[in-house]
Formats: sequence, C-alpha cells, structure tokens
Amino acid sequence: MQAKSNQWNNNLAFLLAATGSAVGLGNIWGFPYKAGENGGGLFVLLYMFFVVVLGLPVFMAEVFIGKKGKANPVSAVENLAKSSNSSRSWNLVGYSGILASLLIAGYYAVIAGLVINYGFISLAGFGELDPAVVYATEVSSFWEMTFWFSLFLVGSGIVVGFGIDKGIESAMRILLPMLFVLVLLLVGYGAIKGDMPSALNYLFSWKADQFNAGTIQAAVGQAFFSLSIGMGTLMAFGSYMPKNQTVSKASVIVVTADTGVALFAGLAIFPLVFFFALDPTAGTELVFKTMTTAFAEMGTLGQFIGPLFYFLLAVAAFSSMISILEPSVVFVSEKFSVSRFKAAFIIVVVCFFLSLVSVAGFNVWKDVTIGALDNPFEAMKYLADDFLLLLVGTGISVFVGWRLENTINSDVMGLENKFLLNLWVFVLKWVSPISLLTIWTLGNLQILFGISFF
Ligand code: PHE
Repeated sequence: MQAKSNQWNNNLAFLLAATGSAVGLGNIWGFPYKAGENGGGLFVLLYMFFVVVLGLPVFMAEVFIGKKGKANPVSAVENLAKSSNSSRSWNLVGYSGILASLLIAGYYAVIAGLVINYGFISLAGFGELDPAVVYATEVSSFWEMTFWFSLFLVGSGIVVGFGIDKGIESAMRILLPMLFVLVLLLVGYGAIKGDMPSALNYLFSWKADQFNAGTIQAAVGQAFFSLSIGMGTLMAFGSYMPKNQTVSKASVIVVTADTGVALFAGLAIFPLVFFFALDPTAGTELVFKTMTTAFAEMGTLGQFIGPLFYFLLAVAAFSSMISILEPSVVFVSEKFSVSRFKAAFIIVVVCFFLSLVSVAGFNVWKDVTIGALDNPFEAMKYLADDFLLLLVGTGISVFVGWRLENTINSDVMGLENKFLLNLWVFVLKWVSPISLLTIWTLGNLQILFGISFF
C-alpha cells in the first residue's frame, strides 16, 4: 500500500489483493491435508457450510471495520470504539489479530520455504526417488529449512517495507489466473490418470461417525484461515478501499474464488492419493508426497509442470504472506511513528524467531510435545488457526453487531436489500458469537484435554 495515498488505486485492486491474500497455502496445502486428517466428507461439507454461514458474514464485518475505521487494525477499532462510545479495550480485538498474524507468519514462511525448495528439486526431476524419502530428507535439516524460509520471509518483508499497492496488483493480475488454470489442469489430470470416483466419494460423502467437536472446530478454523479472517489483514485492506466500493459485493467475490480454489485443489490431489494408494491422513506432508509422485509419473512433462506448480504455489504463498505481515507492519509504523521499512524490519525479526521454533518442530524438536500437541510446529498452528482465529472472529462479530449497529449503512455495505442487511447483523449479534464460542470450547476440550461430549 502506498503510504502517501492510503487508498487502492481502483476497485479491482482490492479484489486482487484480497483474493491474493485468501488464496494461498491454506487452499492447496492446508485444505486437502485437513480434509484427509478429518476423514474427508463431513469435514468438507462442514467447511462449505461454515464458509457461507459464518465465514462470509465475519469477513464482511472485518472489512467493514477497516473501511470505517481507516487505520491499522488496533487504531481502526479504537477509532470506531470512540465514535460509538464503547470502551477502548475493544482494541484487544486488534491486538489479538496481530498476535495471531505473527504466529501464522512464523509457520507459514516455513511451509512456503519448503515449497520453494521443492520447486528446485522438481526442476532437477524426481526420477526414481521415493517421495517419502525426499520429504524426510528435506525436513530433517534445520539449517536448510532455515535457509529457505529466511529467503521467503526477507523477500516478503522487503515488499511490505516498500508498500504493496502497485506491485501486488500487477502481479496478481497475471499470476492468479495462471494458478486457477494450473489447478484446473491438475484436476483434469487427476480425472484422467487418477481415481476420481474414489476422490469424489471421499470428499463429499456424509460420514456421520466423523461428527465430533474436533472436526467441527477444524472446519471453522480452516474456513477462517483460508478466508484470511481474524488477523487484521482484512481490516488493513479494507482501510485502503476506495469510497465507492461496497463491502458486500467485494466480499462475495473473494469468498467464492477462495472456496473454489480449495475445492479444486482437493479434486486435484485426492484422485492421485487413491490411485497411488497413498495415505489420505498423512497430514502436512500430503501435498508434497502426492504431487511428487504425480510429477515423477508424468516423466518429462512433470519436469516442466512440477516447477511451474511449485512456482505458482510459492507466488500464492507470497501474496498471502505479504498480507499477513501488512497489519503488524502498519501498526508498528503508525503507533511508533517509524518508517514502513523500519517497521517491516522489526516484524521480520520477530517472525524469524518464531519460524525457527516451528522449523525445529520438524527436526530437532520433533518429539517435543506441547500438551496434547505433537511438536512446536503443530502447537503454533493450533494456537493460531484453531484457538485465536475463532476468538478474534467472535470479537469482530460482537463489536460490529452490538457496538456499531447504528453506524452500519447500506452505502458502505452495498446491501440495499433490508432483509439481507438485517440478516447479516443478526448473524453477527447472535449466530456467530454463540456458535463460535461453543465450537471453540468443545473443540479445545476435546483436542487439548481429551474430553468429548459427542
Ligand atoms: N488465507 C491465506 C491462505 O489460505 C492465509 C492467510 C491467513 C493470509 C490470514 C492472510 C491472513 O493461505
């Protein structure tokens, strides 16, 4: 974002930047593996349900705060709290979002580093290498992983330091469509070469036995994460929205694009999982293993498509990473009156240390469990995605629904239909906080303490 104008140049810029933020590792790496870990069907259906019922309304609420509050996430909330005679402590919503964004940046960079590393490996060709061995080797080296994530982190920090308006718009204009097309091609490949019927059955069948608080929490957490909700990103991007752009239309477009990419990524990956008899519950390594296997099978073609896939995935991760760093960078820069560059430097240093901890979770601290969580990497992911995001989402809903109700007008929102506008406020006031807090409590009881009620 250009510090001087503090506004996107045109309406398309918000759409491209927000879609670039939403579409990332969460769709292509996260969604398939979480679907696999949670048994497929029910998770996917719940995910789609929550995207519509909670994701879209809270997404709109977060953009609304940014657009109305016109500042970094903390000050935007403070500005609105002041104008609505609410307590200044609502800024906790902004602070928690920033905390979540830093934790996410810490592990996101590590996976993105792995993607870049895989890009180079696939350039050389996978040949006869066993994908499981390739993966194990790559994640076993603390320093190698550190090298790759640092590259990614510093690169993103520099872009954010310079300001993200022009660059992100022109890059996204070309690269987003390319990513869409490539994912569709991979779905086609899966349909021809893989086992599409098993994949469809796995992803979309109703599996009553999977119905438990952990699956529900994972589905909501994934929906929020994938839509970039709850970390201040949407507040920051909303604050740069041109006056005449309305929140609801822009939100629907971004949410649809993001969900489409996630579902197609699932349809690209699972036919291969079943065809090659891989384990759908493999977890975070799922995408790396399935894609390596597929690219190796493709022979020479794979040597071309492989690097292209990892390149586009790295770019998608890059545009998301920029948007993860943006809220904390504008916050530090505005709060402490330092240049964007200085602020970006400080944030990159903080994220660097967090990333070191999450890298260690793959190798040197692999067996260091944190409560019920397997290692520091898993713990960081859980704390950010499943724990904090739902709380921040609740805070955003309550703040907009209960405290800002009177300031909501259809000009900003673009919801001329009174019924839809009231429905949105109703969801923010009641449906979203009650369901999010219930899911959060039951999910944490089950995952952290092994206490389950159903
Ligand atoms: N939505 C991004 C993804 O799916 C991640 C992200 C989360 C980006 C939060 C910004 C804020 O990869």
